Amino acid sequence: MFFFHFFIFFILLNLPIAHTNYESRIAITPSGYEFQLTYSIQLLVSTTAQTIITCSAACNQLASCRTFDFDSVSKRCRLFEADGITTGSIIVSSSLTSRVGTVQISSDLYSSTHNQPCTWCQMDRYETCSANTSTCQCPRNSYWDGSVCALQLFQNNTCKQQNACRSDLNLTCTLDCYGLFSKCVSILTDNATHTSTMMAYGTTVVGACSGSSVMNQTLLTAPAGITMGRNSSMYVGDGTNLLLRFDQNNRLGIPLQNYSMWPTFFFYDNRTSLLYVTIMESCILQIWPTNKTIPYTGLAFRNCSLNWLYRPTGVAVDSQGNIYIASLPCNWITKWTMNSSSGIVIAGSPTGSSGSDNKTLFGPYNIVLDEANSYLYVTDRYNNRIQRFMLDGSGVAVTVAGGNGAGSAQTQLRQPTDIYLTKSKTEIYICDNFNHRIQKWNISGTVGMTVAGNPNGTAGSSQFSLNRPYSIVLDIQENYLYVSDSSNNRVQRFSLR
Ligand SMILES: *[C@@H]1O[C@H](CO)[C@@H](O)[C@H](O)[C@H]1NC(C)=O
Ligand SMILES: *[C@@H]1O[C@H](CO)[C@@H](O)[C@H](O)[C@H]1NC(C)=O
Ligand SMILES: *[C@@H]1O[C@H](CO)[C@@H](O)[C@H](O)[C@H]1NC(C)=O
Ligand SMILES: *[C@@H]1O[C@H](CO)[C@@H](O)[C@H](O)[C@H]1NC(C)=O
Ligand SMILES: *[C@@H]1O[C@H](CO)[C@@H](O)[C@H](O)[C@H]1NC(C)=O
Ligand SMILES: *[C@@H]1O[C@H](CO)[C@@H](O)[C@H](O)[C@H]1NC(C)=O
Ligand SMILES: *[C@@H]1O[C@H](CO)[C@@H](O)[C@H](O)[C@H]1NC(C)=O
Ligand SMILES: *[C@@H]1O[C@H](CO)[C@@H](O)[C@H](O)[C@H]1NC(C)=O
Ligand SMILES: *[C@@H]1O[C@H](CO)[C@@H](O)[C@H](O)[C@H]1NC(C)=O
Ligand SMILES: *[C@@H]1O[C@H](CO)[C@@H](O)[C@H](O)[C@H]1NC(C)=O
Ligand SMILES: *[C@@H]1O[C@H](CO)[C@@H](O)[C@H](O)[C@H]1NC(C)=O
Ligand SMILES: *[C@@H]1O[C@H](CO)[C@@H](O)[C@H](O)[C@H]1NC(C)=O
Repeated sequence: MFFFHFFIFFILLNLPIAHTNYESRIAITPSGYEFQLTYSIQLLVSTTAQTIITCSAACNQLASCRTFDFDSVSKRCRLFEADGITTGSIIVSSSLTSRVGTVQISSDLYSSTHNQPCTWCQMDRYETCSANTSTCQCPRNSYWDGSVCALQLFQNNTCKQQNACRSDLNLTCTLDCYGLFSKCVSILTDNATHTSTMMAYGTTVVGACSGSSVMNQTLLTAPAGITMGRNSSMYVGDGTNLLLRFDQNNRLGIPLQNYSMWPTFFFYDNRTSLLYVTIMESCILQIWPTNKTIPYTGLAFRNCSLNWLYRPTGVAVDSQGNIYIASLPCNWITKWTMNSSSGIVIAGSPTGSSGSDNKTLFGPYNIVLDEANSYLYVTDRYNNRIQRFMLDGSGVAVTVAGGNGAGSAQTQLRQPTDIYLTKSKTEIYICDNFNHRIQKWNISGTVGMTVAGNPNGTAGSSQFSLNRPYSIVLDIQENYLYVSDSSNNRVQRFSLR
């Protein structure tokens, strides 16, 4: 660092135009300095001028000129689209007669023009009229950063907003693996925005994007169930037995409860604000924050009975408060009224035996209730399919996805664990656990489509891959898909738009 004394002078042109900055505010170095470029295209003009005043006036007339240098002996006058802050620097010159002028930029110079009708910047030095909007906007190669027109940045420069990079050089501000703006890269290689020929780009909203695991509220360990609560807050069941809530855009989780085993799946009832939590290895369903349990007797044994839950997985609650609970080893879905001491089988074999016909299940995981149509969707894990039961007492289901054996073809699934039914009830998203991918199916379709993860079923830890995804949820607007990427100890978000 070096310091020099500025003196500031104003070009004396007293035009009667209100609200405009016709003249630049320019700071001039003492003699003995020149400007050093970082990129040659930042040199706008190299000419000669009689005096520093005429060189300065030339800069003033070019909206893009932010810096100039002038040598009073050689008369060289160079105008630069560079500011010495982000690019280029003022250096000691071998010529003792060279000086550098820097156009001073501050928010007050823009406050009366930015976004105003073009008449306000007709004679302005800092902003130009945009033909598109007929308003005063930043000149080319600069962008509005909220208070001034800052110069756009070059490749690999750190950037903080999408348009902060030289668009004329096809640069854009890419996102890092946390979804935060990071650096200027070519739009041609930008993984975050160019996904048409690649797999979907996920950003890590909870946990570390590197896949590391530490037992604290910022990082996760083998997350299981996830769901959305009010205000886009997300509930996450962590492998350290914690139930955590992450409020929107907050990576620091709020620990809500420490269970004795890991919380498995959730149902958030937005009528009551209660969160229903299955804890598979404790053979219990517990409601947060009341701590009520199903069965209310608290009985928990490791065999199949309608009086208790044996390794419960999926949970759903209807508008009457009836609770539907899947049991992994009992291959059934039972329905419980609140405060009841026993359930009734509504899907799967009443004996608890597994099967693969249209009445039976083999390892049911999460479930979704479509109350309006009296449907219950069941992730039929070991049958590699999604079943839709009619809640009419017949106990008969149709296969709405998979059912073509375990595999990674787009017609197949491999041990799915979770499903999400869209608000339109026409599509389901499937957490295809052993294929390390998320599939989307039309309810009446015969083939799925990979929306996250590697379509060929390969696991990985990059932004494009997943490793044993356990649970999925969409935001209220269905713009984003959230995936608990269990073996990568993180929750990934994928844009669906
Ligand atoms: C003006 O509008 C055209 C067409 O919509 C667009 O391609 C161009 O980028 C716009 N220019 C500016 C400066 O916003
Ligand atoms: C930008 O960074 C990449 C990777 O770090 C490097 O390969 C490339 O040469 C850099 N480009 C420029 C213009 O600095
Ligand atoms: C930017 O991309 C366009 C379209 O691909 C191409 O025509 C143009 O030459 C590129 N410009 C630069 C500076 O790379
Ligand atoms: C895009 O992803 C590929 C493959 O993961 C990686 O090699 C490349 O560096 C990424 N490009 C950028 C600009 O991050
Ligand atoms: C969580 O652990 C990471 C890694 O050790 C650490 O950087 C971070 O500060 C921790 N966060 C909290 C809230 O303790
Ligand atoms: C949701 O946000 C609103 C408005 O910020 C707030 O009043 C309310 O308490 C929040 N609800 C929950 C459950 O956090
Ligand atoms: C949860 O509680 C258990 C038993 O009290 C304790 O050993 C464990 O450290 C707690 N876990 C967390 C993440 O606080
Ligand atoms: C509760 O969820 C249902 C179904 O997703 C939705 O239709 C309803 O608007 C939600 N109600 C509130 C209060 O958020
Ligand atoms: C629920 O259980 C937790 C943990 O034992 C306890 O801290 C909390 O106070 C209980 N809540 C109610 C409403 O009893
Ligand atoms: C289930 O477990 C309970 C408690 O251990 C036991 O009393 C009961 O006999 C068992 N039932 C069967 C069918 O094994
Ligand atoms: C269910 O399977 C039975 C026996 O295989 C068959 O008769 C019946 O048509 C099937 N029902 C549906 C809805 O597929
Ligand atoms: C799946 O895709 C990945 C990445 O494109 C590739 O490395 C791998 O070899 C493929 N695996 C199979 C079985 O095709």
